[in-house]
Amino acid sequence: MSSSFLTKSYGKTTSASVRTHYDAWAASYDAEIIKNGYATPGRCAAALAQFSDIKSTPMLDFGCGTGLSGLALRLAGFDMIDGLDLSPEMLEGAKATGAYRALDTIKAGADLPVPKGTYANISAIGVIGVGAAPISVFHLLMKALPRDGKLVFSLNDHALADPSHQGAISEWTDCGAARLLFKEHGDHLPGINLKSNVYVIEKA
Ligand SMILES: C[S@@+](CC[C@H](N)C(=O)[O-])C[C@H]1O[C@@H](n2cnc3c(N)ncnc32)[C@H](O)[C@@H]1O
Repeated sequence: MSSSFLTKSYGKTTSASVRTHYDAWAASYDAEIIKNGYATPGRCAAALAQFSDIKSTPMLDFGCGTGLSGLALRLAGFDMIDGLDLSPEMLEGAKATGAYRALDTIKAGADLPVPKGTYANISAIGVIGVGAAPISVFHLLMKALPRDGKLVFSLNDHALADPSHQGAISEWTDCGAARLLFKEHGDHLPGINLKSNVYVIEKA
């Protein structure tokens, strides 16, 4: 089960084409992705809740899209969520959920608009990978965390096929700069038989 936007998602190569794609998809994104059983937000939120008892301090949902990730984080108990996204049209959806304290656009490759250490928890759910944000976003978010801060994020099977994605995680964990707390392969979009890894990484 799939339709045009979802099947076109995994071929974008430039940030301009990614933004154009998500702007155009925004109005039908929720319906299409929910129809295909989008499971990763719930899995990420549950994983972060398992390792972080800091739920009422500001957290960042990077690449928040229309807010499905924020709604899942809210259900898991996180109640002060700021969202950033490349696509203004996707952000309109996030605004309508009421799940976020603040929302803003961010340009691809830009630094976060807050000082390092602002967020003890950061999520990037369905954001990094083929046709979406580059792996440099992972490094950006890890650098933004304070010591003991946690990043929950996902890599779908398309992203996992590119060894540079897992290599980026090893760059942090192999030298002790971060600890891998959680890694689980499970459903991403069962409607198109796509799975994802969910990770929780803690900065040392
Ligand atoms: C598949 S959607 C996931 C949205 C939301 N997290 C969810 O789980 O439904 C990917 C989102 O990442 C955003 N995105 C892609 N590249 C980005 C970048 N470099 N910086 C910020 N957001 C980006 C897109 O605009 C899109 O809203």
